[in-house]
Amino acid sequence: MSLLNNPFALIATTSLTIQIIVLFLLLYGYSLKRKLRFRQHGIAMFAAVVLHLVVVFAIMIPSFVLAVIPGYVIPNFSGIISVVSLVHAVAGALAGSLGVWLVASWRFRDLKGCFKKKRFMLWTITVWFISLSFGVALYTIFYWAILMS
Ligand code: HEM
Repeated sequence: MSLLNNPFALIATTSLTIQIIVLFLLLYGYSLKRKLRFRQHGIAMFAAVVLHLVVVFAIMIPSFVLAVIPGYVIPNFSGIISVVSLVHAVAGALAGSLGVWLVASWRFRDLKGCFKKKRFMLWTITVWFISLSFGVALYTIFYWAILMS
């Protein structure tokens, strides 16, 4: 069976693709900060937060609540799928919340307040990378067999 014939795999692949775009936005945003283009850095991070939230609310929360929790977490809490999905979900929720806070407290105004939040930004991007890595791991666990067939 190919990815295109499996609706779950298709939705997950769409989500993964958007997450990879988010990863590129984070890397691009970081490179803008290194070039001291702070306003553009803030705008790139804003775009990353918006895309992240769209995927979280449209795909991840429904699939977590309807499939992963009843199918894996409740029957086998310490299993690999439960652990990977819980780390992914908690880190993703934390990164999203911190991202919303950083962008909302800036609101495209002056940059003074942003400089004071440098430490939180470093934490946000770190937690975000952890979430993305565990998301890729989860996708691989679920769909590797289909991808290889
Ligand atoms: C999801 C949101 C954001 C993430 C993940 C993020 C990430 C980062 C990272 C990793 C750094 C480098 C920190 C370091 O060198 O230790 C940084 C620096 C910086 N960011 Fe952000 N950022 C975000 C939002 C924003 C926003 C909304 C602004 C406002 C324009 C902003 C302005 C800055 C500034 C001015 C610096 C330089 C701070 C300094 O070197 O003193 N960032 N950001």
